[in-house]
Amino acid sequence: MRPGPTSGSIAPSLEEAAMRTRLSVLSASGAIGVLLVVVAAVAIGAEPVGNKADGATKAAVCAACHGPKGISVNPLWPSLAGQQEAYLAKQIKEFRDGVRVEATMQPFVANLTDQDVADLAAYYASLSPCP
Ligand code: HEC
Repeated sequence: MRPGPTSGSIAPSLEEAAMRTRLSVLSASGAIGVLLVVVAAVAIGAEPVGNKADGATKAAVCAACHGPKGISVNPLWPSLAGQQEAYLAKQIKEFRDGVRVEATMQPFVANLTDQDVADLAAYYASLSPCP
């Protein structure tokens, strides 16, 4: 008996359809994977890791007011030594971005990058606080 006219053609096309479905599921999960990597990179990139040695160099201009060891001698200029790193970074960014306003300090932080801010925060956080 000869095979029916359809038995040879339906099976491969079903197979093909199933294959296409698997392929599109695979490429969709691949796309999600790539997206997750990009989102993670952006999230990490948003908070650069501070380098305190670089921060020490960048703090030369800050020392005039905040003291060479982060301890201020003027009652209106805060000591920064030993302050929380994340808090310092947040405040410096807020001065830079004009959210927190301090006319005397703003010019010194106006052009800092996020990396500069992280370095400065790491540096001041590493210093011994006021006795
Ligand atoms: C001309 C003096 C001056 C210079 C230079 C200066 N600051 Fe300041 N800074 C101030 C004053 C004054 C305040 C307090 C502002 C206020 O009263 O809100 C302050 C506040 C801060 C604070 C917030 C502290 C807190 O406890 O909230 C941080 C952080 C800071 N400065 C970092 C820096 C860094 C980093 C630099 C150098 C890039 C710098 N400052 C340079 C005068 C200065």
